[in-house]
Amino acid sequence: LEIYLNGLSGVLPDLPVEFDELEERAKAAMSPTVWSYVHGGAGSERTQRANVTAFDRWGLVPRMFVGATERDLAVDLFGLTLPSPVFMAPIGVLGICAQDGHGDLATARAAAQSGVPMVASTLSSDPLEDVAAEFGDTPGFFQLYTPKDRDLAESLVRRAENAGYKGIVVTLDTWIPGWRPRDLATSNFPQLRGHCLSNYYSDPVFRAGLDKTPEEDPGAAVLRWVSTFGNPLTWNDLPWLRSLTDLPLIVKGLCHPDDVRRAKDGGVDGIYCSTHGGRQADGGLPALEVLPEVVDAADGMPVLFDSGVRSGADVVKALSLGATAVGIGRPYAYGLALGGTPGVVHVLRSLLAEADLIMAVDGYPSLADLTREALRRLT
Ligand code: FNR
Repeated sequence: LEIYLNGLSGVLPDLPVEFDELEERAKAAMSPTVWSYVHGGAGSERTQRANVTAFDRWGLVPRMFVGATERDLAVDLFGLTLPSPVFMAPIGVLGICAQDGHGDLATARAAAQSGVPMVASTLSSDPLEDVAAEFGDTPGFFQLYTPKDRDLAESLVRRAENAGYKGIVVTLDTWIPGWRPRDLATSNFPQLRGHCLSNYYSDPVFRAGLDKTPEEDPGAAVLRWVSTFGNPLTWNDLPWLRSLTDLPLIVKGLCHPDDVRRAKDGGVDGIYCSTHGGRQADGGLPALEVLPEVVDAADGMPVLFDSGVRSGADVVKALSLGATAVGIGRPYAYGLALGGTPGVVHVLRSLLAEADLIMAVDGYPSLADLTREALRRLT
């Protein structure tokens, strides 16, 4: 409300509160390489666009005489109480979005200031311990791209535990690169590589597998990274993954109810429904479309959701369709590129302010009120 009332009295925020304008500003500020990496999606980017437009197929039904003067957005997740049901989805190579190259540290500071948790990527530009040191009182999660080298996987998880992360998010849809034409057009791999290896170069198991240190022989270190990066996991690997940690284990990329049921039977603690923002495979269903069946199959287990969330209204819709918490991807990367830590905080606050006001105006004062009954499907 503060953002909005300030605006009405002429005190406008430095950055736009609306996504399309934010994106336009970010595009103008970013180099073509950075823009194509952050904005880009797989193939013709149809899934990416569909993720966004899927929200237009649902409308909230306003309720009156509710007196929603107080709203409660707090949510319990894996034994933690979060001030709002929103988190920052893992984004690798965040360093390219920050002037000083420390995009993960800047984002972690935004998590500390806003209370919105960050899921730090395996491909973070800053080592996971340094990122965690900036979280303040806000819990953080670590996202694992499972390497082929199991000892390295275990080492990364152990480091995350020791650094105080509150859960491990295993991403399943990125064991192989997606078909992303913009990456080819800008040949961005060399630049990205310079910003995504910190967790490997700081890892004792990774270093022990090299003849020379990454500092002495960067070429050999990169080759080793490439050779271990993508592990095409199968269901046979789930018991091993589960055995890696006692922290909550969340599997990211699940969109089919049978996969959800099997993951649940395999002992995971949370399901993360996502199409990776349309970055990995084109021609797929938008994540929002499959969310209800994922929620039904999860049968009470927490369901995290991302892909296409661009506004507070989108957050409210995803919650109404059953998401326990909603992840923001590209919008906060744009905030980071435009304004560092305050830019990320601005994006998160704008989004939460809009969600809060919608819940007030439409008469849904608590998360418990946001059910499928609150929505109508448009044809
Ligand atoms: C991602 N995403 C991602 N996911 C993940 O598990 N590990 C990662 O390292 C990354 N890296 C990454 C980089 C960039 C630039 C983007 C935009 C996204 C996917 C991310 O977690 C999330 O699923 C999507 O961003 C959600 O879609 P929207 O909100 O961007 O539409």
